[in-house]
Amino acid sequence: MTKDKVLIFDTTLRDGEQSPGATMTHDEKLEIAELLDEMGVDIIEAGFPIASEGDFRAVSEIAERAKNAVICGLARANYKDIDRCWEAVKHAKAPRIHTFIGTSPLHRAIPNLNQDEMAERIHDTVTHARNLCDNVQWSPMDATRTEEDYLCRTVEIAIKAGATTINIPDTVGYTAPIESADLIRMLINKVPGADEVIFATHCHNDLGMATANSLAAVEGGARQIECTINGLGERAGNTALEEVVMALKVRGDIMPYTTGIDTRKIMNISRRVATVSGFHVQFNKAIVGKNAFAHESGIHQDGMLKNSETFEIMRPEDVGLAGTSLPLGKHSGRAALRAKLSELGFDLADNQLNDVFVRFKDLADRKKEVYDDDLMALVYQNDSGDDRLKLKWLRVVCGTEGPQTAEMVMTIDGKDVNTSATGDGPVDATFNAVKALFPHGARLQLYQVSAVTEGTDAQATVSVRMEEEGRIATGQSADTDTVVASAKAYINALNRLLVRREQSEPGYDVKGVSYKDSA
Ligand code: KIV
Ligand code: ZN
Repeated sequence: MTKDKVLIFDTTLRDGEQSPGATMTHDEKLEIAELLDEMGVDIIEAGFPIASEGDFRAVSEIAERAKNAVICGLARANYKDIDRCWEAVKHAKAPRIHTFIGTSPLHRAIPNLNQDEMAERIHDTVTHARNLCDNVQWSPMDATRTEEDYLCRTVEIAIKAGATTINIPDTVGYTAPIESADLIRMLINKVPGADEVIFATHCHNDLGMATANSLAAVEGGARQIECTINGLGERAGNTALEEVVMALKVRGDIMPYTTGIDTRKIMNISRRVATVSGFHVQFNKAIVGKNAFAHESGIHQDGMLKNSETFEIMRPEDVGLAGTSLPLGKHSGRAALRAKLSELGFDLADNQLNDVFVRFKDLADRKKEVYDDDLMALVYQNDSGDDRLKLKWLRVVCGTEGPQTAEMVMTIDGKDVNTSATGDGPVDATFNAVKALFPHGARLQLYQVSAVTEGTDAQATVSVRMEEEGRIATGQSADTDTVVASAKAYINALNRLLVRREQSEPGYDVKGVSYKDSA
């Protein structure tokens, strides 16, 4: 049986990054784009170039670096957006402009356009985009709540104006599988010229049906699925790449389609996106959740030992999970660490390996066995040698009688400063100490702790998201001591806010930020 190819369009860096709090740094965006390119994603939507200087720069650089994928930028239905988008993507080997306008009655009311005026706008903007680039995607935003006749009319206009891909977004996650398939089928059957373009599906997960709706759209004739790693995205997120790709792979018997994705790279990119976005993956998330391949109950474990297929429909290795492997310990040397990291997919430069080795030795002194997940947490710790703020020393006094007290020494711009602060709990006291040493106006938006492995000596990974004047930064850290990990993650977020401030206000002197020298 020949299988039709379904193109995978990843929008982690656009729709995913747009979700409040998921902002990534420039370098993180480049890194995620490289991983997407390496794993075989067909089209990478790298950002929304007109949105900010930072977005423009990221899309341009991703376009210049991409080796295989088509690089796409988003643009609203106006010439300025489209021109800016083209400026950013034009250096890619294969550039694409993606332009959109809301076509449902609710969305038409926003620019206050009637049906004819909007039709004219679609014709003009798609023609303009097509004059710049021969690969143009057009999306009628909120398509699933647009009148059928009007949707057909607009799709026909976009095709005639030169769009090569027609994307049908379920912007608010409203549709259901049967409807999703019927909608694409109806468009392909009714709209003149439909057989000359590719239809795409773009689903949001508000009712938990994004994956089912995307697969149903493929049944209806769509040959491009828009998705994000871990289902990252606004509100309840977008269709999860790993879910649609693995569903097509595992159930090829009833869904005869292929994708170009190297599924063994799924786990690594999932972890990386979780780390840089600060959006942890829920334990029972399909494919990439910590428990997705865990078998706890006796009956399940017994069955698994006899024949793994009794309870497993896919092999952990297929998504890039290493089989059970021996943990490292405090006597393991640099060569063993390098070999293990390379097995886990990390090819570190010598100086990076040295940094991880120091952290590994420190951890191995405190923790008997260092597992793969522990090592990954060490690699992903995102503090850097250039950080202005560093935690030097911390002691917290806790007990049933509050308030708790944190004594702290921080190094700020190379100078040690210390303080003691109280709080409602050890973490609150610790954060108050940081604030006393480095007064700032940033607000804590999220504080999240999870254990990397099992046992009371497990490392805790902590994510802290901070906001200051609209800038958002997420800090991460891992330590066997939850409070130490919390302090480091908080300081890490502050360091990132300082860098972000410097980037968005060129010339701003970060050294000028005041702090209380209480040494
Ligand atoms: O959800 C949506 O409608 C979008 C469009 C910009 C394609 O993200
Ligand atoms: Zn969307």
